[in-house]
Amino acid sequence: MRLKLIAEEILGLQDKTFKLPELPYKVTALKPTLKTLDVHYNKHHGGYVDKLNENIQGTKYNGMSLEKIIQRSYSDSHLPVYNNAAQHFNHTFFWNILSPDGGGKPKGPCLESIEKNFQSFQNFKDVIIEKGKNHFGSGWVWVIRNGSSLSVQDMHDANNPITQNQYPILVIDLWEHAYYLDYQNEREKYLTEIFNIIDWNNVSENFEGYKR
Ligand code: FE2
Repeated sequence: MRLKLIAEEILGLQDKTFKLPELPYKVTALKPTLKTLDVHYNKHHGGYVDKLNENIQGTKYNGMSLEKIIQRSYSDSHLPVYNNAAQHFNHTFFWNILSPDGGGKPKGPCLESIEKNFQSFQNFKDVIIEKGKNHFGSGWVWVIRNGSSLSVQDMHDANNPITQNQYPILVIDLWEHAYYLDYQNEREKYLTEIFNIIDWNNVSENFEGYKR
């Protein structure tokens, strides 16, 4: 299950600190779609990891898995820990569904489910772009699997589906820092272009890893 693998990669339990996980491709590999990934990955994602480590030091969260920290700090309303932990998870999830060899569309059961839930792949894509475009402020647009149902949901700030015990298969970053350097205020253009680098093999793996 890809989600599980990602969680393990970013667990960092050995020395009880989290580390910025290596990208599954070179930081320059997603050009021209994402020309300034270096800043997004090293400065923004790296910043969340540093702040997470600072904020969990000497607390009950130190030593927990990332998913556990997200769930516990969310129910405790401990925002400094929750926001940085969730942003670490969300960015890691995002990097893992992108690839320089991405684009096109999924095959097999994942595509069948998309067509069943959204009539067509094109309509599915349009729904994601529309939700992402209309989202007010910072956040993320997620595709969530629940049994045979797939839904597209936009969430604010650092929020993610695992706080609701939901199972994500795809996400796109809607924070201005994700697109402003490359696309200025054209969020819709960024969302359209990002489909050229979505790795549908990894999204399908997430889809097929669903167990409930
Ligand atoms: Fe981001």
